[in-house]
Amino acid sequence: DWTMGAYREEMIAKIRAQVGDKKVICALSGGVDSSVTGILLHEAIGDQLTCVFVDHGLLRLGEAEQVVQMFRENYNLNLIHADESELFLGALEGVTDPEVKRKTIGKLFIDVFQKYADQIEGAEFLAQGTLYPDVIESVSFSGGPSVTIKSHHNVGGLPEKMGLKLVEPLRELFKDEVRALGTELGLPASFIGRHPFPGPGLAIRCPGEITRDKLEILRKADAIYIDQIRKHGLYDEIWQAFAAILPVRTVGVMGDGRTYDYALALRAVTSVDGMTADYYPFTHDFLGETSTRIINEVQGINRVFYDITSKPPGTIEME
Ligand code: XMP
Repeated sequence: DWTMGAYREEMIAKIRAQVGDKKVICALSGGVDSSVTGILLHEAIGDQLTCVFVDHGLLRLGEAEQVVQMFRENYNLNLIHADESELFLGALEGVTDPEVKRKTIGKLFIDVFQKYADQIEGAEFLAQGTLYPDVIESVSFSGGPSVTIKSHHNVGGLPEKMGLKLVEPLRELFKDEVRALGTELGLPASFIGRHPFPGPGLAIRCPGEITRDKLEILRKADAIYIDQIRKHGLYDEIWQAFAAILPVRTVGVMGDGRTYDYALALRAVTSVDGMTADYYPFTHDFLGETSTRIINEVQGINRVFYDITSKPPGTIEME
């Protein structure tokens, strides 16, 4: 009689057998896979585990605080909140090429993770949330590194370079099973149901140069957009939704004045696995109301577009 509860016990026993009394480090991205990995490891080996949450300054409004708070409130694990936003944003200054952005972020992520890992004396294992589709490589992202350090995201080699052995408790599971396991482990439903978020974060939703100003505008606009989607009960129907700030300013009129502000693109898609996607058919009322709210509430945006490109030929992200 197969239950998630029994499977959980089995996995915990396996982790203990593999790790023994050694120390393990785990990179938390705030996503479901790395979170479930971290919590499972914590159940199995408690204080032998240290989790590192690298904040690259490219997260959404309040996201770093929410993730850290969720872990601190619900799980008593060793968690390092590595605020490295200055480092990442500094390195990204003037960078506009999408691939250079990804490589810059990926490389820095490894450096930073290594720096924190070095401080944990005697760590012998690196835990990561590799899933079965990653193992069989049926999932391939658009080429960039992910903060979950999955090998297919081109950050392979890290465990070898650091002299660490891998612990991958989710290797036999599909995404829906990881969600079920997360529920079993007490992760809040709102957390488990979150849309996917890419490793490079807002960097690939800010085509052109990334500046702190643009990121701040983008964060506010994105939060309003997601709030609208939730208020209309559409969040769970959508695979992924986000705003992107375009590298163009256009003229508008507000009150008696002329504005010259950024244009914002809204994106929402349905998909099964992210490989192909259709744009989500919002009603015109929804789009109009959302556009009005964003322009009224966010200084710096005076025009809103809705992206009606499916994948292919578009990608889900802007870069
Ligand atoms: P694209 O834009 O390639 O995105 O259609 C497909 C799915 O992959 C996510 N994505 C990434 N995830 N690192 C990640 O961890 C990345 O570099 C990356 N690029 C895209 C994207 O959010 C979507 O869910």
